Amino acid sequence: MADKIRVLLTEEEVNARINEIAQEISRDYEGKNLHLICILKGGVFFTCELAKRLTIPVSLDFMSVSSYGKGTVSSGVVKIVKDLDEPLEGKEVLIVEDIIDSGRTLAYLMEILKQRNPKSIQLCTLLDKPERRVKKQVQVTYTCFTIPDEFVVGYGLDYDQKYRNLPYIGVVEQ
Ligand code: IMP
Ligand code: MG
Repeated sequence: MADKIRVLLTEEEVNARINEIAQEISRDYEGKNLHLICILKGGVFFTCELAKRLTIPVSLDFMSVSSYGKGTVSSGVVKIVKDLDEPLEGKEVLIVEDIIDSGRTLAYLMEILKQRNPKSIQLCTLLDKPERRVKKQVQVTYTCFTIPDEFVVGYGLDYDQKYRNLPYIGVVEQ
């Protein structure tokens, strides 16, 4: 049976907010080259929409990580499934994520990537669920939306690999 999905953020709301964040990032990095790191697979829709709206020079790289652990809870031990193609040495790096939940994935990833000596490294996320945060040290510079503790899909986010292609953010009703 098809799942019922309640709209939390419409396509228009998401796109309008990405416009704002893109302007903010373009201002903050004025005169610099920005190296975007898309965290696959969830971050891919947001990364593309964001990148299209940036007015500064941008380069892109992709990384795929999987957290050891079952179901919807991440364990914090992250396996790099696909590493970056390029070094980060001396670059202005912005990590682009779909959602920060417990923060375990990003806490681990930031430690690894900082060791590669970027000039700077910041974090940008489409969604943040701060109520769920376990790793309080994760500092998010750019957040599009802060949402309540609900499991969401769409705009790259999946439930069992489904619904990534929805152009809006929704909640799967059980
Ligand atoms: P964290 O390590 O707990 O912050 O987990 C972050 C990852 O868990 C995200 O990159 C998503 O892949 C996944 N995740 C967390 N919450 C949701 C959700 O509401 N919907 C879909 N995936 C989620
Ligand atoms: Mg993810």
